[in-house]
Amino acid sequence: MAGTSGSVRRIAVNTGGGDAPGLNAVIRAVVLASLRQGWEVYGIENGYAGLLAGEEGGLVHLTRRKVRGITHLGGTILGTSNRGNPFAWPGEGPDDEAHSRDRSHEVLRAFEEHELDALIAIGGDGSLGIARDLSAAGLPVIGVPKTIDNDLAFTDLSFGFLTAVDTATDAIDKLHSTAESHQRVMVVEVMGRHAGWIALYSGLAGTADAILIPEIPYRIEHVCEKIRAREARGRHFSIVCVAEGAHPVGGEIVTKTVRAGHEKQVRLGGIGERVAIQLADCTEKETRSLALGHLQRGGPPNAYDRLLALRFGSAAVACAEEGRFGCAVGLVGDHVEAPTLEEALEERKFVDPSGDLVRTARDLGISFGD
Ligand code: F6P
Repeated sequence: MAGTSGSVRRIAVNTGGGDAPGLNAVIRAVVLASLRQGWEVYGIENGYAGLLAGEEGGLVHLTRRKVRGITHLGGTILGTSNRGNPFAWPGEGPDDEAHSRDRSHEVLRAFEEHELDALIAIGGDGSLGIARDLSAAGLPVIGVPKTIDNDLAFTDLSFGFLTAVDTATDAIDKLHSTAESHQRVMVVEVMGRHAGWIALYSGLAGTADAILIPEIPYRIEHVCEKIRAREARGRHFSIVCVAEGAHPVGGEIVTKTVRAGHEKQVRLGGIGERVAIQLADCTEKETRSLALGHLQRGGPPNAYDRLLALRFGSAAVACAEEGRFGCAVGLVGDHVEAPTLEEALEERKFVDPSGDLVRTARDLGISFGD
């Protein structure tokens, strides 16, 4: 395995966690930039599964031909998984119970066997955490941040976010027609985990009347007042954009438990429906809700996300070329920088309730329910 400048000959790339528009653009940039260095590139399928015996997938030789025409494609040609932590590989224990085991040594061994010198790991906080731990275990790794939630503090933007915002804004635009025609309240729930970025950006761009985000706990009575005030002004419809992690003052976030093989996973979601029921009760208006869900992760990346993804792929290869490992590339101002993975994972990024985006929304008369 490599670790110094000039020692890379064969490099691996993988995608982990939830998909995001732009993953394929990163893969293409990594492959083409590596080929320019004279290196060979291998894609690990399905996170780390492609390196582990008995799991789905393998190692794919990524040639120029393999990455033709993929910049604009959503998803990832390598496949991904949010259940693929090699340090806690999910499986079945005695009595059919979910049971995880450490298979990280198998990943390290596979790197030796396949004579791979370094890994470019594309993922969100979970996958970058795995990259950090593999780096500590001796693997030369470079991380590339990906998440539609935009909640990683070390990068001003993560690719996928602005495409998700476009999708959510388009949905809010379309919901306006039916809201206005039927004089209804439409509640749209968007993703973002514990950060309100997608809700704030799309709610502002789509002219929602109320935006509920985790960073500003709401009181449902205040949202009702906003809707009633609009009624009084002859505006007989309202749009409420709710982040999946939003919660009332003193209240809990709404989650659901989903099954994944033997495991049970807790996922955010359901707040939109709850808010819609409460608003129908207090305003006596016909109310409908829609959770945009995984639509926000699908489809082609927009032009900005393509550019960011291509820049990140190129920058990751530049790090490998310089022998800089154990780092992650990120956008700071107009530059791509590469802090250590430890530094990169220190903080999450949340909406500033006193920031200019929130102030702008308030100036426009948008309620945060506070
Ligand atoms: O982190 C990206 C994200 O889409 C979140 O916004 C959302 O809460 C979560 O992933 C959904 O995960 P899954 O794909 O496992 O349902």
